[in-house]
Amino acid sequence: MANTWDYGPLGAEVKNRVKREWWNTFIRSRGDVVGLDSAILMNPKVWEASGHVTSFNDPLVDCKKCKERFRGDKILEEKLGVEAAAVLKLDQVKAMLDAEEINCPNCEERDWTEAKQFNLMFETKQGVVKGEGDSIYMRPETAQGIFVNFKNVVQTMRPRLPFGIGQIGKAFRNEITPGNFTFRTREFEQMEIEYFVDPDNIGDTFDEWQKAVWTWYTDLGIDKKNLRVREHEKDELSHYSSKTVDIEYEFPWGWGELFGLANRGDFDLAQHEKTSGEDMKYTDPDDAERKFLPHVIEPSFGCDRTILTFLIEAYTEEELENGDVRTVMKFDKRLAPVDVAVLPLSKKEPLREKAKEIYESLLAETNLVVDFDITGSIGKRYRRQDEIGTPLCITVDFGTIGEDAEQGDPDTLTIRDRDTLKQDRIPIGKLREKIAEYWKS
Ligand code: GAP
Repeated sequence: MANTWDYGPLGAEVKNRVKREWWNTFIRSRGDVVGLDSAILMNPKVWEASGHVTSFNDPLVDCKKCKERFRGDKILEEKLGVEAAAVLKLDQVKAMLDAEEINCPNCEERDWTEAKQFNLMFETKQGVVKGEGDSIYMRPETAQGIFVNFKNVVQTMRPRLPFGIGQIGKAFRNEITPGNFTFRTREFEQMEIEYFVDPDNIGDTFDEWQKAVWTWYTDLGIDKKNLRVREHEKDELSHYSSKTVDIEYEFPWGWGELFGLANRGDFDLAQHEKTSGEDMKYTDPDDAERKFLPHVIEPSFGCDRTILTFLIEAYTEEELENGDVRTVMKFDKRLAPVDVAVLPLSKKEPLREKAKEIYESLLAETNLVVDFDITGSIGKRYRRQDEIGTPLCITVDFGTIGEDAEQGDPDTLTIRDRDTLKQDRIPIGKLREKIAEYWKS
């Protein structure tokens, strides 16, 4: 279980926000995409039809000395580069490991087995009687839940081509070498869209999706210089794809896939039609005689990898005028786990009470995530909020409660911007307006 991760309270909030941004952008604010929430456990025939039972494999090599297992292609990738490793055939992997004098990363000896294919799907048993359950799979991609629901969506929602069906959900892969924090895990979340198009009228759909996804990432704070587009070589394509383009991110350990865009053609609908005997064809609403299988352009996002890139981008260490270094998570304000923190200057009762009153009114009357913190010096509490990435801190001082005119006028407070560190003094009555203004900026 070495690379299994949980999100804590702040992480869970960031994750929900990433999913909300994705759902708002690609589903709610588009007239041509609808949402879905399909089951993880499906009839095993789904995975026979989709090709995952026969083709969803990784080349595995064993070290004969220490018995550790590795993905042969991944070890070679580090030495030869992604493109060169991707075109190698299964029976070339061992020979190449030997030719390149690559030792076992665990025991540093060199005694490799021939590579063999290893299916990445997790199997489990369905049924209550021990030993008599049927084997079923945990879905390795959310996509198939969309394909098997294609007809239901067409019948109930009556969409016209082109249209998409999107969903967010868990996927499971028995990865041989999970690692690099949440980059590669065995249980992860995907955010996928299957975009159905008329094969006679695909136009620029592929490029438009590539652009829309690039814009989503950069608009939410990923620096363009850390992103690049890489098209898959023919030998590297998944069994269902005729063209795949990845958007890669420069992680601290090098470039890696963040998002994949694939042209799946009619592979999946045709396979499900063949296996289930169910007619999956779409009828042209303008010509009832014209029935065909739509083609599919698939934008597929890894949710956890996306969060990881936002974390890496946001992490900043800044030297302050007094020489101190502050750590600040410069999240886009839509992604920060806490929106506003209310901080009384000191723990003293009248201040604390006033601050609590403001905190509770924000909780009750807004949709913001609000934090209230009284422990430690005000400087330490600002640092803590910087480390969380809280965009705004509200401070209630002795001026606020009319006890120190030098700190400020009665019924005013300060509002501090995480990035500029600027503090504005404003009347309490203007607080909601100021916060709303900030969120619109
Ligand atoms: N339906 C297409 C599909 O699943 P994929 O390239 O295998 O395509 C899509 O996966 C995305 O899911 C990847 O770009 C990546 O962000 C994420 N992903 C895949 N395997 C993962 C893993 N083991 N851990 C975390 N994220 C993963």
